[in-house]
Order: sequence, then structure tokens, then C-alpha cells
Amino acid sequence: MDTEDRYAAAAPGWATGASRVYGPLAAQLVAAAPHPLTGRRVLDVGAGTGLASGARRAAGAHPVAVDRSPAMLALDAAARPPAVAGALEALPVRDDAVDDAVAALVLNRVDDRTAALAELARVVRPGGAVLATVAAATTAHRAVCDRIDAVVADAGFVPPPWYAHLTTVQAPQLGDVPAMTAAARAAGLVTVAVTEHAADVGVERAEDLVAYRLGQAHTATWLAGLADGERAALRRAAVAAVAPVMEPYRPPVITLVARTPGAR
Ligand SMILES: C[S@@+](CC[C@H](N)C(=O)[O-])C[C@H]1O[C@@H](n2cnc3c(N)ncnc32)[C@H](O)[C@@H]1O
Repeated sequence: MDTEDRYAAAAPGWATGASRVYGPLAAQLVAAAPHPLTGRRVLDVGAGTGLASGARRAAGAHPVAVDRSPAMLALDAAARPPAVAGALEALPVRDDAVDDAVAALVLNRVDDRTAALAELARVVRPGGAVLATVAAATTAHRAVCDRIDAVVADAGFVPPPWYAHLTTVQAPQLGDVPAMTAAARAAGLVTVAVTEHAADVGVERAEDLVAYRLGQAHTATWLAGLADGERAALRRAAVAAVAPVMEPYRPPVITLVARTPGAR
């Protein structure tokens, strides 16, 4: 496993930053389950701070979390479901161990998406559900985030190599319905249903969009290195850049709802 914790600097601010968008997306993914989750053991892969686990617990499930980032798992650990550090590429879970699996916004962070989906299928018992989301590859909605990114770049931010790899190599692999459908089928999943929709995440103010964007992992370490005053000025500049064109943020999302083969 890659030992660098890329989310270490982002974890403390996740609840007031990235979760403004990822929280609603996690709830929508859990709501897409093809059967009630009550009483079921559900693996939350790439669980982060547990947004999808929380939604699943609210749905009556018994979540278990796996994530590559110890820092993300450590946040509020005492109040969260059981969790273990591990990679989606080689889950620390035996075959058929869970009833269902959820992977919210993590399949776009692996090099081999079919192998990752097959790994999810391996740990889910026959007939269980595999639910996943990734960001869609379409770019129209990104104009507002591009304005934030331009402010950050002007201030001297240079994306770390892992983020450049994510955006240019990993994320595009599953960024549309045909690609996700083909990968899910190649991984052996059945009753594969893949949709793309512009998600209503309730982010309508420039301040909230900036909090989300600047709460993501790729800028977190750099932001943490700024003086408090510099960071506050950067946020103000980003809000000023976005405010004139701000409209409700509706990120396009690819959602996979599938099952493992066999009896339910
Ligand atoms: C965008 S965040 C999403 C977190 C959470 N699912 C949510 O919806 O808020 C991506 C998460 O996936 C984790 N991650 C990235 N690559 C991973 C991998 N190969 N295996 C396991 N976790 C991974 C990161 O540490 C991070 O917590």
C-alpha cells in the first residue's frame, strides 16, 4: 500500500469543507440501495470521515469502514462504526464477508478500476449490493471551481503529483456511463445499473463552494502552510472570484447500483 497519507491535512476540516458536497452525495448513494439496508453489514470503502457510514447507520445498517488514510479514519473515531486502514486494491476483508459494499468517490482514485470493482465483488456475499459513485468527466459545471483554482494557482499553489495523476489518468477512466457499465460487468457484477445526474447538494452560496473546494485534500497541505492572514485573504479572493457567476452547484455524478452474482 502507498504509505503517504494524502488526506492527513484535509481530515480536520472535512466536516466544514469537503463534506458540504460529499455529505449529500453519500446520502444519495445510500438511498439508491436496491434493498433495505436495515440489519445488514455494509462495508464502506474509501470511507473517509464516515459520511456514507453515517447515512447507512441512519438507514439501520451495520457499517464497517475501510480507508487508506489513517487520519480520515481517526476523526471522531470513538463515535464511528468499526474501521480499519486498508486499500481498495487489496481489501483486508475475507471473501463474502459483508452483505453489501459502498464506495463513495473512491473508484476514481485507483489505477485499475476493473480490479477494484472485482475486489468489492469479492468481499460481498452472493446477491449483495455494490454501490458506487464517481465524479462524471463532463466539465461544464467546473467553471466556478476553475475560478477558485485560478485564485489558488495565482497564490503559488502547484498540485502535488498524485493529484495530477488522479485528474489526468485515474478519474477519466470511469467518468461516463459506458465506462462504468463496462468495468462493472468486466468485474463480474450483475444487474448493473449506471446513471449520470447533476446532483443537488444544496450548495448555493459562493462561501460554501469555496469552503468545499478549499477543503479538498490536494490543496490542504499547502493551505495549512500559509499564515492565518494569508489563508483568510485567499478565501476572500476566491469568494470574490466566484460570487459574480455563482449559481446552485450541481456536480455531475456517475452512480453504480449492481449486485454480486448468485442467490440473494
Ligand atoms: C473524496 S474522499 C471520499 C471520502 C468518503 N467516501 C466521502 O464520501 O466523504 C476519498 C477517500 O478515499 C480514500 N482513498 C483514496 N484512495 C484509496 C484507496 N486506493 N483505497 C482506500 N481508500 C482510498 C481517501 O483516503 C479518502 O478518504
